[in-house]
Amino acid sequence: MSHKRAFIFLGPPGAGKGTQAKRVAQRSGMAHLSTGDMLREAVSRGTELGKLAKPIMERGELVPDDLVMKMIEERLARPDSAAGFIFDGFPRTLPQAERLDGILESAGFGKPVVVDLSVSHDKLLRRLTGRWTCSVGGEIYNVYDAPPKTPGICDNDGGKLVQRADDRAEVVKERLAAYERATKPLTDYYQRQGVLHTVDAAANVDEVSRALSEIVERAERRDGHL
Ligand code: AP5
Repeated sequence: MSHKRAFIFLGPPGAGKGTQAKRVAQRSGMAHLSTGDMLREAVSRGTELGKLAKPIMERGELVPDDLVMKMIEERLARPDSAAGFIFDGFPRTLPQAERLDGILESAGFGKPVVVDLSVSHDKLLRRLTGRWTCSVGGEIYNVYDAPPKTPGICDNDGGKLVQRADDRAEVVKERLAAYERATKPLTDYYQRQGVLHTVDAAANVDEVSRALSEIVERAERRDGHL
């Protein structure tokens, strides 16, 4: 039986959710939906949501569930879900996960495929403090492990590379604490549903990508998309 597909990339800040979600989206045609990117866009556009979210994100805390769910529901109403979704950084709390279950069921999706990108905390600090992102196309670099050819400039579109305001060490500490407190329990929630896969995300980008491709292809075969 053929279902619309939903993949959920779980994992701590800096695990590589965005890097990998972009790759899978390019290969599969699924829409990449990052709540962090959506919130940062709202902040830079100065919308009501952006004004509420900005100080919370700058402290490294989580934006309230109701605001995030409203944003998600508006996004999912857009007509580009034919090939399915990759959720990156969402859900992040138990109430978000429960509400997403209801949304997916009523929109005709099968059970989500959930991948936990697992990395020890000591590696994450290096990844986050070394991250630079293209201000035009969103391509993600790392000055230590994945530098651009020309410092400060995106290889793909020549855009200026910028650092995120919440990648300062003291904010990263709070983001990791928020992850441990609110998001890590979701691995148990999805484990109980029998939909959780764990990938060793301490490996290099291509190895993680290969492990994810296998999971995606297995799910596609199961759902009759291949
Ligand atoms: P969000 O933008 O989602 O940030 P995050 O979860 O903290 O994750 P990151 O984007 O920092 O990391 P990533 O896992 O995507 O890693 P990346 O691929 O960039 O959220 C930001 C804020 O928004 C939150 O703090 C919260 O306030 C709010 N928010 C968002 N969603 C919310 C929600 N649902 N509910 C409530 N609040 C919400 O990689 C990181 C670096 O590592 C890069 O430099 C990359 O090049 C490098 N790298 C990646 N993979 C590898 C590898 N395998 N080996 C070596 N380096 C690697």
